[in-house]
Amino acid sequence: MSSVDMLIEKLNQALAFELRAINMYAHYAAYVNGIHRIHLNPLFTTEATESIQHANIVRGAIVKLGGICVTERHDSEIVHTENYNEMLKFALDTEKYASELYHGILQSVEQIGDDELFDSIEGIYFSELRSIEEMRMLIQ
Ligand SMILES: [Fe+2]
Ligand SMILES: [Fe+2]
Repeated sequence: MSSVDMLIEKLNQALAFELRAINMYAHYAAYVNGIHRIHLNPLFTTEATESIQHANIVRGAIVKLGGICVTERHDSEIVHTENYNEMLKFALDTEKYASELYHGILQSVEQIGDDELFDSIEGIYFSELRSIEEMRMLIQ
C-alpha cells in the first residue's frame, strides 16, 4: 500500500469518527437536563458543529488525494445517558481518541510533504486538544 493510500485510510477513520462525534454531541445536547443544560446544551451543540466542520475539512483532503470518503460513522458505541457528568466523560474519551487519530495523520502527512494539508490537519488537532482540556475542567 502506498503512503498516500495509507493516509487516505487514516483520514477515512478520522472522518468516520467525526460522523460519530456529530451524532454523539447532538444526542447529548438533546438530553442534557437540569440546571447544567444552560451551559452544556450550547457546549455540546458547538462541539457537534465543530465536528461537522472537521468532517468537511477531512472530506476535502480525501477528495484532493483522490480517495473515496466513507459515509458510515465509526461503529464505537454512543452510550445513552441523562447524567451530565457521564456525558462529559464520554466527550473526553471521544476527544482523546480523535486527537490520537489526528496525531497519527500528521505523521503521515509529514511523510508525503504536503504543507497545506499539514496546516489544516494541525488546526483540527489543536482544536481536539482544546476540547480535551475543556472536558477535563468540566468533569466533576
Ligand atoms: Fe473533531
Ligand atoms: Fe472534537
